Amino acid sequence: MSIVFNQDSRLFVLSTKNTEYQMKIDEIGILQHLYYGAPTGGMDMEYQIGRLDRGFSGNPWEYRTQRPKSLDTTPQEFTSSNVGDYRISSIQVRHANGSASCDLRYKCHEIRQGKYTLEGLPYVRGNNGALAADQDAETLVITLVDEPTGLEVQLLYGVFEKKDVITRSTVIVNNGEDAVVVNKLASACVDIPFGRHDLIHFYGKHNMERMTERVPVKHDVICIQSKRGMTSHQHNPFVILCDQDTTQATGAAYGFMLMYSGNHKTEVEKDFTDSTRVVMGINDTDFAWKLEKGASLTAPEVILTYTEQGLNKLSSNYHHIIRENVIDAKYYNVERPVLINNWEATYFDFDKEKILKIADQAKDIGIDMLVLDDGWFGIRNDDNTGLGDWFVNTDKLEGGLKPLADGVRERGLKFGLWFEPEMINEDSDLYRAHPEWALTDPGRKPNFSRNQLVLDMSRTDVQEYLFDRMAEIIRDAQCYYVKWDFNRSLANVYSNNLPADRQGETAHRFVLGTYALLDRLLKEFPDLIIEGCSGGGGRFDAGMMFYTPQIWTSDDTDPICRLQIQAGSSYGYPVSVMGSHVSASPNHQTGRKTSLKTRGIVAMSGTFGYELDLTKITEEDKEIMSQQIRTFRKYYWLIQHGEYYRLTDERDENYFTAWQFVSEDQSEALVNIVASNVHANPEIPCLKLQGLDPDAWYEEETSKVRYTGRALMSAGYVFTEFVGGFMGDDDSFPADQYHFVKI
Ligand code: DGJ
Repeated sequence: MSIVFNQDSRLFVLSTKNTEYQMKIDEIGILQHLYYGAPTGGMDMEYQIGRLDRGFSGNPWEYRTQRPKSLDTTPQEFTSSNVGDYRISSIQVRHANGSASCDLRYKCHEIRQGKYTLEGLPYVRGNNGALAADQDAETLVITLVDEPTGLEVQLLYGVFEKKDVITRSTVIVNNGEDAVVVNKLASACVDIPFGRHDLIHFYGKHNMERMTERVPVKHDVICIQSKRGMTSHQHNPFVILCDQDTTQATGAAYGFMLMYSGNHKTEVEKDFTDSTRVVMGINDTDFAWKLEKGASLTAPEVILTYTEQGLNKLSSNYHHIIRENVIDAKYYNVERPVLINNWEATYFDFDKEKILKIADQAKDIGIDMLVLDDGWFGIRNDDNTGLGDWFVNTDKLEGGLKPLADGVRERGLKFGLWFEPEMINEDSDLYRAHPEWALTDPGRKPNFSRNQLVLDMSRTDVQEYLFDRMAEIIRDAQCYYVKWDFNRSLANVYSNNLPADRQGETAHRFVLGTYALLDRLLKEFPDLIIEGCSGGGGRFDAGMMFYTPQIWTSDDTDPICRLQIQAGSSYGYPVSVMGSHVSASPNHQTGRKTSLKTRGIVAMSGTFGYELDLTKITEEDKEIMSQQIRTFRKYYWLIQHGEYYRLTDERDENYFTAWQFVSEDQSEALVNIVASNVHANPEIPCLKLQGLDPDAWYEEETSKVRYTGRALMSAGYVFTEFVGGFMGDDDSFPADQYHFVKI
């Protein structure tokens, strides 16, 4: 039993292999948060709650004569609002009488076998097809109630004992008589009473997503958020709170990851008692959800984990839960195709012949799939027109998509196709027929981005249209794969389909609409692989991963920039989801020259593919590419399912970046090292490897030199063969791979 409730002490204990989570109901029904950390050996952690009379921290009515008992100083599971806790609150409501008070007290709870699911939202799967056997999760639902109004909040907990993961979600139910407006509904609130922490978060921009930033948590509120209607390139809905001395290999760390692809917000507050509170959920900016009598609203899920073994272990916990419980099990044991995408090869300028010539080359090299990117539909020769018109452009593709797709298949390749479903150009037949389908404010000129507007995904007629068009095309071209793009942030978030008092729901309904369309298409085409994309990695989150087992990581395909982008992404997400391609040199985004070898090694730590004009490369490069594909195949499962370790840390200021994969049985390891800076006379790197069997001997495959696992981990591997200096025009950023095999 990983969830236990002690009737006498009213203590809840949620246990996983290496973590414990405690909550306790106090005398007046406040659900206190007692502890989240390493197992305590049966200790009731209430002793950690300090009870001091802090001036200006008031008391609930029942505690009016016990001044040390204040909500303002009590760690809580889900905080109330306007009733005396002045820190970040988990909920904001407006009752029919105008009151904003919400005083949540324990009502009842239920413990059950298996993991809860969420209607219309992605969630961590307790039952994931063939992967279900070791996934015996348990569910706890605690119901809190605001007595005067009957408003109920259900706190949902999923405990994944073997994975050291606890999920949380919240459902608000209006059991009162009048409608209530919900202005904020957090998915989780976690109070950590002691400690000096750093916050690691992942900021960025287009072409530079998920940069790692580590900042001390001071007496302040740090807010990591997106108001763009989408996950965003700017801030990922994932943060780590760790001890200030935590490293990649050692120390305590908490992870908080929101499974959501819309406006999100994470608030981290260190308060006047030195306690740190993390509140995560849908962004409350402009959010207002009208809850009629009897109605409910569900908040997206948060995935929590904790470790005392450093940031690599924290990442490993996330990698496992995403690979095994978020991504549909049907993709788990299927080798993803190595693809060639025509975007950086042709941009909008292609026809059937050009694409088939690329396919001819791809086949020779050993590539598995050709993906036709933007420009095959409507009138779309640049990014000004055509979005929404999901009809094949027969001027470019004579006879439609089918002859092209058949031609690709005749060459032994699978066929994949690009869509950008949520978008619409003003210059499109769809807009001319249905201007009301675009998100636009009445009486205002809409905001444009990449020359396009956004469809109102909250509308079922829009969802219906997109489903019909996409299904027909996917069926006709027998697509094996779809790349699902999304190339702008939302603005003018106003639905022509909703009344004035429900406009605050539009942004969330938009996300639910996208999820509904994804769900419906995947039911219609159960074997389809969808790769998420959003101008690169602007919608790179665990919510999308529920539907799309891979996501294009960034439009920046420069391998040296990718080192940072992929390392940043790896803190929360496994490499098996990271779309990663070898592109041309000089790179189209940065102009940097790098060798094909370096580009290959970086792209291999992802869902490998190519994105360049194969008709313009030399025979020698083709041979190198064939070899790269063979190498990728050789290491496929080691890379996709192996344990991943960052061997370098951004804070070390090395001139190189290194990372490692270790097979589950520790029988082999693959170490990758890439120069990330140019040095004329660099030092020879020596790095401590991780995750090996200390008592075993390993042989490095190329040099045939043998080492004990213990030596490699305690003293390190010396990369004498790796020369990080200037090696000539194409090789200032050399890269190497080292394969260690247990003997
Ligand atoms: C942005 C994507 O990230 C690119 O890979 C490409 O598909 C373009 N959109 C096409 O417009």
